[in-house]
Amino acid sequence: MTPGIIERYAASLPVSATTPRITLGEGSTPLVRSSRIGPSIGLHQLYFKYEGLNPSGSFKDRGMALATAKAVEAGAKTLLCASTGNTSASASAYASRCGLRAVVVVPAGGIAAGKLAQALAYGATVLTVKGTFDTALKLVRQVADQPGVALVNSVNPDRIEGQKTAAFEIVEQLREVPSELFIPVGNGGNITAYWRGFSELARTQGSSRPQMHGAQAEGAAPLVRGKPVARPRTVATAIRIGNPASWESAIAARDESGGSIEAVSDAEIMAAHRRLAREEGLLVEPASAAGVALLLARAREGTVRRDQPIVCVLTGHGLKDPEALTRGLTIPAAVEPTLTALRRAIG
Ligand code: F0G
Repeated sequence: MTPGIIERYAASLPVSATTPRITLGEGSTPLVRSSRIGPSIGLHQLYFKYEGLNPSGSFKDRGMALATAKAVEAGAKTLLCASTGNTSASASAYASRCGLRAVVVVPAGGIAAGKLAQALAYGATVLTVKGTFDTALKLVRQVADQPGVALVNSVNPDRIEGQKTAAFEIVEQLREVPSELFIPVGNGGNITAYWRGFSELARTQGSSRPQMHGAQAEGAAPLVRGKPVARPRTVATAIRIGNPASWESAIAARDESGGSIEAVSDAEIMAAHRRLAREEGLLVEPASAAGVALLLARAREGTVRRDQPIVCVLTGHGLKDPEALTRGLTIPAAVEPTLTALRRAIG
């Protein structure tokens, strides 16, 4: 049996011997070496941390395993969250696993089809609100103090603790610390978690820490602009967030690491999304391509360290957003069931 993140990293997590080892087999995701994108820009040590292979298809499962375990330990009966889709899918999965109720609040019309389907299929109570993710998060924070309810957004410290394990895995897999890490940024939780993970290793093992490069979508880039965005817009629905909850800690990760948080356009995001599928065989959702889009932009500017290992975090699986996968492509018309017709169609 594959141990989950609580079992593997108990010594580094806020758990006791009695904390339930809840798992769906999250973590232990592959670090895939780039075969074509890296070499095409002169990077021979480019790697992708493929977090889309987690049980509900995103990195959220790492934090959700721990947040759920701590919620169960505290006697909670309901997991509550606001979400752009992946947190709601993950919370719904872990709730069903543990016999808890999940109540997930998502922006109406604002999340990818696969994620909505997941929450419904796992049996969650799905509520859609007319507004952005920011509105939804503000609302759920105000009802989270009910008895028996655990708020499992990344404002819950256990989420960040669970997600930091991805940094541990990267160092184990690479057998060294990458010199730069590229990661999409929405609510700011994940960049905070990685930075904590690398910082803990630095403290306990005396290792170096990577430069952290966070990518926001141009139309939803509050951390780049330095002020909240009232109406965030981007094709990357997962990071369509105007007022990140982990604002300060995301900025701290950038500054303490000597890194950057920069904006990439939707066109750059979709170009990187397509290259990952067509040149690497890696299906990701648009938000996950934002880090790669930023790497490509920095490589064009010549500000990437070419001779050092670089990691891009691919946060969510491509099948979550089938509409994005087929955008601009045509589904071929059916061919007659004859050899002649087939040969002609193959060309
Ligand atoms: N990539 C994906 C696929 C995401 O789903 C998210 C966040 C991020 C990146 C950004 O991570 O918020 O920690 O900075 N999704 C949240 C959700 C907001 O509700 O699923 P972050």
